[in-house]
Amino acid sequence: MSFDERAVLIAGASAGIGLEVARAFARHGADLALAARGAERLEAVAAELRTFGGRVEVIPTDVADPAACLALVSAAVERLGRLDVLVNNAGLHHRGPFGDHDPLAYAAMVDVNLRAPIVLTAAALPHLRATGGSVVNVGSLAGCLPLPEAAVYSATKAGLRTLSLALAGGLEGVRVSVVSPGPVATAFILDDLDSVGDITLAQPMSTPGDIAALVLACAADGRPERQQPRSSGLLAGLGATLPSLRRVLGPLMERRGRRVKERLRRAARER
Ligand SMILES: NC(=O)c1ccc[n+]([C@@H]2O[C@H](COP(=O)([O-])OP(=O)(O)OC[C@H]3O[C@@H](n4cnc5c(N)ncnc54)[C@H](OP(=O)(O)O)[C@@H]3O)[C@@H](O)[C@H]2O)c1
Repeated sequence: MSFDERAVLIAGASAGIGLEVARAFARHGADLALAARGAERLEAVAAELRTFGGRVEVIPTDVADPAACLALVSAAVERLGRLDVLVNNAGLHHRGPFGDHDPLAYAAMVDVNLRAPIVLTAAALPHLRATGGSVVNVGSLAGCLPLPEAAVYSATKAGLRTLSLALAGGLEGVRVSVVSPGPVATAFILDDLDSVGDITLAQPMSTPGDIAALVLACAADGRPERQQPRSSGLLAGLGATLPSLRRVLGPLMERRGRRVKERLRRAARER
């Protein structure tokens, strides 16, 4: 797999999964445009990734703002001269029972997790068509199986998954994929352990590198969806179609998730 002289724009590139995606593309020869809100962290990432030899452009952006999304795509194409891959990875999660948060916090989740990928993909489309490029969206298994303790997050990720699969079947000249992970060991989950749903933690935890490898595989072959771990993807699909199975397995998985949570809390205390 080579991305030599390919131009890749990554939204949410300064930490966690996006950082590993950026590292993986850099190792495979790509030129990069890196976006996130925090400029300082992005600059540090760029300094690291320039040692791989490709161009690395830093474009601080809050993708919650649609006008900023348009400016991001324009700046990436202007600076790199082309666009081959767009990775929509920036994501936001306000956890807990529905109603625990300010209504505007839910609106912000929709803005970052769903509206931004739609706007970025639409803005990138002519540039991706020119190169026969691809879009890879980072979804979630929560988008395959609705989670009651993460209703809005689930809804945004289900929307992103549906968008991806719809475009994968019908967009001429551009491939579109979605990578749907279960829990991944990043600050997104580890810094917010108390409010992470027990059932989420019952799934095997992946590394950001696992997910980055799937993002690159999708960019290379355009497969519409990759789930990680595959066993959890299968279970999520079954749970979504067979609510009775979910009623039986749910309490067992929650018990397992509580044990994992306790283990993670202990590990954090010992660090
Ligand atoms: N970790 C998991 O368990 C897990 C599981 C399934 C799916 N996912 C999905 O994977 C993606 C990445 O998650 P992660 O675990 O890597 O999260 P993370 O470690 O919190 O990193 C999130 C990245 O997105 C950027 N970002 C957040 N809000 C942004 C905004 N409004 N505009 C631009 N950039 C923004 C952050 O930088 P700034 O804060 O500087 O903007 C950071 O670079 C998300 O879409 C998440 O929903 C994660």
